[in-house]
Amino acid sequence: MPDTLELLNAALGGIIDPSREKTLGETGAIRHLGIDPETSTVKMLIEVGVKAPEFTQKITRAAAKIVKLDHGYKSLVIEYEEKPSYRPITNRHVVGIASGKGGVGKSSVTANLAYALTSIGKKVGVIDADVYGANLPIIFGIDGTAIGGTEDGKIYPVKKDGIEVVSAAFLMEPDKALMWRGPMLTKILKIFFEDTLWDPKLDYLLIDLPPGTGDVAMDIKTFAPDAKMVIVTTPHESASAVAIKAGYAARQLGQDLLGVIENMAYYETAGTRHYIFGKDGGKAVAIKLGIPVIGEIPISQPQSGHHSVFADTEENGLIYLAIARRIIRSFDL
Ligand SMILES: Nc1ncnc2c1ncn2[C@@H]1O[C@H](COP(=O)(O)OP(=O)(O)OP(=O)(O)O)[C@@H](O)[C@H]1O
Ligand SMILES: [Mg+2]
Repeated sequence: MPDTLELLNAALGGIIDPSREKTLGETGAIRHLGIDPETSTVKMLIEVGVKAPEFTQKITRAAAKIVKLDHGYKSLVIEYEEKPSYRPITNRHVVGIASGKGGVGKSSVTANLAYALTSIGKKVGVIDADVYGANLPIIFGIDGTAIGGTEDGKIYPVKKDGIEVVSAAFLMEPDKALMWRGPMLTKILKIFFEDTLWDPKLDYLLIDLPPGTGDVAMDIKTFAPDAKMVIVTTPHESASAVAIKAGYAARQLGQDLLGVIENMAYYETAGTRHYIFGKDGGKAVAIKLGIPVIGEIPISQPQSGHHSVFADTEENGLIYLAIARRIIRSFDL
């Protein structure tokens, strides 16, 4: 027969530490568990990933239910100790999503690729480095105020559907405006590469880059010399001409170009394709840069109700899965 302490330990072990997305049992986080029968008090020492009220309150509530309601003790005292299970990332593949021109679908592509890679079983992190147009929190449905940090100035990515996300938008409180003097992208990338506590098991880190060419490539080179780039364009020449420049800038710095994604390639209705934004912009970029077109994404809205991310079952979702597999293969080569 297990004794009371064992039963209690087993029940408490099932509580999830939301900062680690793992149970206390899995991480061996219950460092001490004791019962004072005289005062009917249970005392615990719990190790957590992040010692912040938004996480610890949830654990306390769940533990109180078990200790007081299920086991009938009068009170519960919990001490929390922070032990981040994270360290800076090292073994990850970095993919920069660049376009040259704005509004061609970089952020949509980044988010959809993150979901596609995740559904293939990869652990994915996403950096929204678009300083002035940061909108990945909206696409992911993330409230940036939830971002946590440590006393020594490190930040934790926000988790959504298993994907870790950081965004320039999280760092944009008006009272921090001063720290943004100077080249913004350099500073943002420094924080996201050097001061962010990513899951060390990250397989892929996707970067949604701001529009632009030369500087963007240079910054990526500084922080992720081994990054490979995906170039996004629409079929229209106004986008493809700038995408070619972005590609040349990357190439000059010795960056690998994974390929071109032609977004908003056509609109299909009743089996007929309408080339609303023109044709072959993706091909033009591919030929000029000597790289493959790795995907053509039609104009379409997700059926799932999500405003940018397609389900695996939708046509665009399947296209993104195919692109994700291609990206994985190109790193395995
Ligand atoms: N294949 C598509 N079909 C329909 N709408 C799309 C498609 N791709 C993107 N969009 C829409 O086009 C708009 C611009 O897309 P997105 O924000 O991804 O572009 P971006 O390149 O990141 O833009 P920015 O340069 O402003 O950051 C969004 O409203 C998005 O929902
Ligand atoms: Mg964008």
